Amino acid sequence: MDKTFQVAVLVGSLRKESLNRKMALAVARLAPPSLALNIIEIGDLPLYDEDAETNTPEAWKRFRSEVGGSDAALFVTPEYNRSVPGALKNALDVGSRPYGKSVWSGKPAAVMSVSPSAIGGFGANHHLRQSFVFLDMPVLQQPEAYVGGAGKMFDEAGEIVVEGTRDFVQTFVDAFATWIARCKA
Ligand code: FNR
Repeated sequence: MDKTFQVAVLVGSLRKESLNRKMALAVARLAPPSLALNIIEIGDLPLYDEDAETNTPEAWKRFRSEVGGSDAALFVTPEYNRSVPGALKNALDVGSRPYGKSVWSGKPAAVMSVSPSAIGGFGANHHLRQSFVFLDMPVLQQPEAYVGGAGKMFDEAGEIVVEGTRDFVQTFVDAFATWIARCKA
């Protein structure tokens, strides 16, 4: 039987009605059987402080264990002030330490930015990619995923109502599955 890859999904917004969380759940529903997508919560992570490593917060341990046990990582994020939301950057930092024990190293990644605006979170998307270089994460390059106009994208049940976007998300998650299989071969 072919392996099912466990994918840690990190959502850059903490709010309940988040468009990005809706998108992450929609991606999970469209994912092929070779991927199991699980949202890993980041809202309870204390701000990263190296001094706290002597008495590691439980939330950091939980997060490191969940991401560390995954085969790949998908980031679905809004853009805050043309960059990565603080909560998501904090999660990246928490996962990257203690030094030499980063949970990100070598993990295949993909990023999708989602915004009501037309630019589609390009700034956040590329600032994340900058961190992936240092974190040594091979990231899916194509298709790039800057999803704009997201305010009118979902129905009450959270389904994507724009057909072209649904097709694009399918292409994106299929490409990610192929990318993960290549990286893990
Ligand atoms: C925003 N928003 C925003 N949008 C954008 O396209 N570029 C930006 O730089 C910003 N900056 C920004 C900063 C802060 C602090 C907030 C709260 C919001 C708007 C943002 O895209 C919108 O609120 C989304 O709905 C946030 O994503 P979720 O929470 O719906 O997933």
